[in-house]
Amino acid sequence: MTDEKFSGVLLEDLLSRWLGKRFAEEFGDLPEGIGRVAQTANPAFGDFQCNDAMVLAKRFKMPPRAIAEKVVRGGADLPQYISKMETAGAGFINITLSDKFLSSYALCMASDSKCGVPQSGAGRRVIIDYSSPNVAKPMHIGHIRSTVIGSAIDRLYRALGYDVISDNHIGDWGTQFGVIIMGYRHFVDMKKLSEAPASELERVYVLSYSKAKDDPAWMDQCRAELVKLQSGDPENLALWKEFVRLSLVEFDRTYARLGVKFDLTRGESYYHPALAGIVERLEKGGLATESDGAVVVDMSDENLGVCIVRKSDGGYNYATTDIATVDSRVKEFSPDKIVYVTDERQQLHFKQFFAICRKTGIAPQSVSLEHVWFGLMRLPEGTFSTRQGNVIKLEALLDEAESRALEIIRSTRPDMPEEEARQIASKIGIGAVKYSDLSQDPKTMITFTWDKALSLDGNSGPYLQYAYARIMSVLDKYRAMFPDAEPGAAEIVPTEEVERQLLFKAAMYPSVVTKAALSYRPCVLADYLYDVSQTYSSFYQRLPFIKAEPGVRESRISLCALVSRVLFSGLHLLGIETPERI
Ligand code: ARG
Repeated sequence: MTDEKFSGVLLEDLLSRWLGKRFAEEFGDLPEGIGRVAQTANPAFGDFQCNDAMVLAKRFKMPPRAIAEKVVRGGADLPQYISKMETAGAGFINITLSDKFLSSYALCMASDSKCGVPQSGAGRRVIIDYSSPNVAKPMHIGHIRSTVIGSAIDRLYRALGYDVISDNHIGDWGTQFGVIIMGYRHFVDMKKLSEAPASELERVYVLSYSKAKDDPAWMDQCRAELVKLQSGDPENLALWKEFVRLSLVEFDRTYARLGVKFDLTRGESYYHPALAGIVERLEKGGLATESDGAVVVDMSDENLGVCIVRKSDGGYNYATTDIATVDSRVKEFSPDKIVYVTDERQQLHFKQFFAICRKTGIAPQSVSLEHVWFGLMRLPEGTFSTRQGNVIKLEALLDEAESRALEIIRSTRPDMPEEEARQIASKIGIGAVKYSDLSQDPKTMITFTWDKALSLDGNSGPYLQYAYARIMSVLDKYRAMFPDAEPGAAEIVPTEEVERQLLFKAAMYPSVVTKAALSYRPCVLADYLYDVSQTYSSFYQRLPFIKAEPGVRESRISLCALVSRVLFSGLHLLGIETPERI
């Protein structure tokens, strides 16, 4: 058994392949996928389980248990990586990996720069469209999910070896600009604008918007300013450019705090020159038709409703821009996949323009289009709306996270120098906000509470950061006591059940990263890291490490080193920093 052979292979793939062959030896040609194993829910049933005897029972008119037994008993010896295989219950096949194999697999992970994650995306390109806020509206708490989830998906795909292009598709072209121009002309305070540009733009927007609600003449003027802008009026165009510039300054400040970077920031305006051509193409292809002066694609027979691609006033829609964007991205980048991360309210929009892109061939079959949607985020007090101006802004949320984390550090580590405490507080506070978002299924509506986000003993970012820092201090202590030894170099030989469990869980890291990426669910990774930390914590409480006898001690230290590597890599894929000391 050479180590290279198994590095970069997922444990379940290794077993599934072998078991598939075993089934075929007993039963001849079988449908694809027979022999697939999944991790067991309970370690008492081994590491992995296969349920395919149930699937085949009908086909062979045999009780599932008899099928399972045939597979388990017959044939050649078990490969070295399996220590036990048995039938259970109605016909499950339970498999346990050998400790020796797990140890060598773990050692490969530890020495691999990818921590054992197979590069299944090598040679493939994916464009991820996320965050994408709208200009002249500040990013508020509702935007955090797209930015945080999108950035985690971005990192996960890079970890799989994909060539990722992240694109911030900012809303820099739209009907709000008429309202903002009016607000700017009448209410702007130049002093405030230079001090806090985004808040001032927001303030004038809110004022102008609420005035437009009660004042039809004001509303008409807003529309007129918009038309002027859209027809290229130099003064309005210059104002618009300035709004975009000022907003980006504000957005970039937030991205820097969140550690988020984009390869491209192409706003909707970038595609504007292509929109007329797109509508013409849809009309020529017979897909779009005129209806009451507007141009629409009617997909009501497919339950996708009617998608307006040009309004009766000649303006184009959000959907038209998105179709043009796909066209441009496909031509320029030849991606294998385009992933969009937005909130759930946009599901119909994405279904509609995906369907149009398929029908016209703008998106060839080789390009997959994915809409990853998430539920809205709310505070216990309720949700927010930019228009009323009573939003909690992301910046303010991050400030509060940092100052709350600083308080906690000051109380637990009063001796820590101020500068260090501040730096760590920033990592903990921001990590807490991100983790509270990433640890939940994206499709659920989440309620954010400070207690949960900053809790030190629950499923939270700070809990995981503390777990990591604690392992680092064990490793430091070991280094200080045994300066000649290299922690992590020794083979891991589990002697106790909890050690075996921890070793197995750590070895699942490559599988979990792969699954989290392909399912677009960073929470799969977050849950896993929490589970590993909890298992580590019982290992730490129950067994001596540094005080264990020589040999056992080195093995346990290797296991600590492996777990620290897994936590470090996993938290970084979630965009969460890992201070070495807390
Ligand atoms: N700007 C939009 C919003 O804030 C999100 C854009 C998402 N991306 C896209 N290609 N449609 O709702």
